[in-house]
Amino acid sequence: MLDLLIRNANLPDGRTGLDIAVKGGRIVEIAPSMAADAAKVIDAAGRLVSPPFVDPHFHMDATLSLGLPRLNRSGTLLEGIALWGELKPILTQEAVIERALRYCDLAVAQGLLHIRSHVDICDDRLLAVEALLEVKRRVAPYIDLQLVAFPQDGLYRSPNAERNLLKSLDMGVDVVGGIPHFERTMSDGALSVRRLCEIAAERGLRVDLHCDESDDPLSRHVETLAAEAIRLGLQGRIVGSHLTSMHSMDNYYVSKLIPLMAEAGVHAVANPLINITLQGRHDTYPKRRGMTRVPELLAGGVNVAFGQDCMMDPWYSMGSADMLEVAHMAVHVGQMTSLSAMRTAFDCVTVNSARAIGIEDYGLEVGKAAHLVILQARDAIEAIRQKPTRLTVIRGGKVIAETAPRRTSLTLDGRPETVDPADYAPPLNA
Ligand code: FE2
Repeated sequence: MLDLLIRNANLPDGRTGLDIAVKGGRIVEIAPSMAADAAKVIDAAGRLVSPPFVDPHFHMDATLSLGLPRLNRSGTLLEGIALWGELKPILTQEAVIERALRYCDLAVAQGLLHIRSHVDICDDRLLAVEALLEVKRRVAPYIDLQLVAFPQDGLYRSPNAERNLLKSLDMGVDVVGGIPHFERTMSDGALSVRRLCEIAAERGLRVDLHCDESDDPLSRHVETLAAEAIRLGLQGRIVGSHLTSMHSMDNYYVSKLIPLMAEAGVHAVANPLINITLQGRHDTYPKRRGMTRVPELLAGGVNVAFGQDCMMDPWYSMGSADMLEVAHMAVHVGQMTSLSAMRTAFDCVTVNSARAIGIEDYGLEVGKAAHLVILQARDAIEAIRQKPTRLTVIRGGKVIAETAPRRTSLTLDGRPETVDPADYAPPLNA
């Protein structure tokens, strides 16, 4: 007897009409028209069933703080940084925990069950670190939360950053973070990359740096990061986040850099909502987009994932914990409109993301944990287009969130009585 049987599911890879059998919290079979008894049966009715969304880059210590202590009136990165500086001294642990837990509720509703969040360690009280470690413990039954020790004000620019970073790692923070482009000089930035990678290698940890988040075509920290991955044997364990300077770099230089990143196994995380918003601010017109070279990185064999970065915080007033909104923006900014590129954009917020942050027990495969999301869409491309309702969110074979389908009643003479947005387009997988 199965615990759960999902009937007639379409999968993100384009396979259709499959049943997914779950027992003991794991996927035990994926096959058409299974003859099996189950304690619970869900008819997916030809809708998309996906592994959960994975956000590889977020800032949970700042989320939902919009308006505290005031709104970002200009909407710029610089006012955002100033605002965060005003907010930090008045943060309380209880308020950070409460906001983060509320964010996690929203994440679950959106089928987002794996999150890597940076946490600012430059405040000597390490209040946000303690708060997010508590949140990680509390949400563990339903969200895998990884924390990155992030020296927001610079490892060498901020006087106690290195000491605080090491202390945060001792306290249980999972990943080593950094911000080399924000150090005082390019050489200080390179030194910070080396030091941070050495700390990770000594402690057997992964690395995730905000790296070259600027429009500077001569920023070179991604190169240093890749070289350090090779030197220290950290291949596959390092993420370069943002990498926006690659948008502005010389093409010849990039033709050398991408193979180096592939050799070093450096994962690239773009944050399309934030990159398109914050980069290119010194340009008049033409105005640069600022997102890293996603199609070129993918073509060069680099694993690329998309992160949300911010939601309703000092830097970004928008966001909705919806990784499909993130993928939708990436498709547009990166002109990823070929059929295969749109399908890949879905992978960039699911399987590629899981790979980037090292989640192994993940995916729509026999033997993997039965973490699943049923969406009100028929395939991955339609899901990106519609950003549809997450009808059912399943964790370890158990339903943890349900949302009624979006359906509108019409009272128009001679027109249908209801509109279901999922019924309005021919399936692209046909
Ligand atoms: Fe970030």
